[in-house]
Amino acid sequence: MSKVTVVGAGNVGATCANVMLFNEVADEIVLLDIKEGLSEGKALDMMQTATLLGFDSTIKGATNDYAATANSDVVVITSGIPRKPGMTREELIGVNAGIVKGVAENVLKYSPNAIIIIVSNPMDTMTYLTLKVTGLPKNRVIGMGGALDSSRFKCYLSQALGANPNELEGLVIGGHGDTTMIPLTRFANYKGVPVESILPADKMEKVVADTMVGGATLTGLLGTSAWYAPGAAAAYLTESIIKNQKKVIPCCVALEGEYGQNDICIGVPVVIGKNGWEKIIDYKLNEKEQELFAKSADAVRKTNDVLKEINAL
Ligand code: LAC
Repeated sequence: MSKVTVVGAGNVGATCANVMLFNEVADEIVLLDIKEGLSEGKALDMMQTATLLGFDSTIKGATNDYAATANSDVVVITSGIPRKPGMTREELIGVNAGIVKGVAENVLKYSPNAIIIIVSNPMDTMTYLTLKVTGLPKNRVIGMGGALDSSRFKCYLSQALGANPNELEGLVIGGHGDTTMIPLTRFANYKGVPVESILPADKMEKVVADTMVGGATLTGLLGTSAWYAPGAAAAYLTESIIKNQKKVIPCCVALEGEYGQNDICIGVPVVIGKNGWEKIIDYKLNEKEQELFAKSADAVRKTNDVLKEINAL
């Protein structure tokens, strides 16, 4: 029996749960929220699609009842406030740090062996905070950002090329921030053909720029942050853990010298399997890419420093 808990029944959490249910990622899903009735209502609504969509997994909602989440294999934390148009993800730190810390501590009381996936923003800093406050082994704490950003990168690339996004490889490393993410253009390929050789440089620049502000564009259009792709990205990661798929997915993980960084959680390509993130893949960055990565790490570290200022660490 596999079990996954999603904490936060807002747009992202509910979408993640719905995608996992439909794809039968786990036998049992628990959706938890602090708002009375919200997760129960959404879970019941989803459960009533079982015969329409033909899935056999189950979902149930719970209000603040962490006992209902007991023995989860994976816990996805989406709790906290989303950004409004014009806000950066970093501005959410004051409110979300306290929430994420409390949630992480509570879920571990009932699921001491769970692998934790962090979705809440600012995602890199929330991942770092979770790792520090829980003291979990580093492989069990994973930030979702790179999975989402890479999916957006491939989406924009596919539009620029007029190609099927599923025939493309593309990865985004670095922080999950408007100015910190790094779409690795040199490695983007269309069935092995480097995209840089088939897409004019100005078009590639636009793809990169659009990818970096992918979340902000949607926040502007929607009035709140996006949920379909973020929810699906968290579900995709969870599936690779539960089914031990060993997919290579860019995720925010703790670095100990890899990519030239220490004491930070930031996006790099990792193998995701039943033990969480199992291995970091070394893409052998060139000097320019390494410089961008170091700059991105500096920015993430600056946000991490705020954790101490607000006494979250
Ligand atoms: C985004 C938010 C979820 O990028 O960070 O849409």
